[in-house]
Amino acid sequence: MLVSAKEMLEKAKAGKYAVGQFNINNLEWTKAVLATAQELNSPVILGVSEGAGKYMTGFKTVAGMVNGMMEEMKITVPVALHLDHGTYEGCLKCVEAGFSSIMFDGSHYPIEENIEKTRELVKICADRGMSLEAEVGSIGGEEDGVIGAGECADPNECKMIADLGVTMLAAGIGNIHGKYPENWKGLSFETLAAVQEKTGEMPLVLHGGTGIPEDMIKKAISLGVAKINVNTECQLSFAAATREYIEAGKDLQGKGFDPRKLLAPGTEAIKATVKEKMELFGSVNKA
Ligand code: 13P
Repeated sequence: MLVSAKEMLEKAKAGKYAVGQFNINNLEWTKAVLATAQELNSPVILGVSEGAGKYMTGFKTVAGMVNGMMEEMKITVPVALHLDHGTYEGCLKCVEAGFSSIMFDGSHYPIEENIEKTRELVKICADRGMSLEAEVGSIGGEEDGVIGAGECADPNECKMIADLGVTMLAAGIGNIHGKYPENWKGLSFETLAAVQEKTGEMPLVLHGGTGIPEDMIKKAISLGVAKINVNTECQLSFAAATREYIEAGKDLQGKGFDPRKLLAPGTEAIKATVKEKMELFGSVNKA
């Protein structure tokens, strides 16, 4: 059964480790992430962007697939199904579809409007035992066609949003989605420390987990990050393994064209990436 992300993140914050949010794109992705979490006895958050939800024909399909898989694969570790960077309308659709967690990304609104909309969703989530992630300071890079500049959040605004009763808070600290450019200045630990000081026990979320050096990940966790999002890195691993299979001509040998064979190396590559991240984040055996 799906669970809210509240308990797993409170435990992570107290235990100084982070739970990974791995974005899913299709059946192979979902299967790979769930299998790895179970194998490593780790809690996990399945992230679904609005674009990925649409690609999979809708949030109801996603919830149906994940619930079915958890039963058929006998998954016993805590799993949250979470909307990633949701619009207000997208959040309501996921509540309806049976997600256990949502992110409302109001970072592009003036702070008053972000507060107003987040406040409404706090109530909706509380009534249903769901977890809610809010965002202050937009994350850079491109996500579903929206390009953010990679701002650093205002710690006072973070406190205002945290005080509304959200479960976890994503604060921009110079992080961006996708690959980091050569001239990236790194995470702003001053911002992170200031946000943590204002928000106390609130589990903080680090977006753009792909390509952040290990030492920065560890430092971020020591400064209160309890959830780290990874998307692009699994896509790159999947694509590289699939390319290798095809370039080696394996799809032309025997029944190598069968999707169950063709997509197997990519699926294994996702598992390896997820395992590596769970070990780095410290969530292994924390289920
Ligand atoms: P990456 O694609 O950079 O790993 O970021 C994922 C993310 O933050 C999803 O919200």
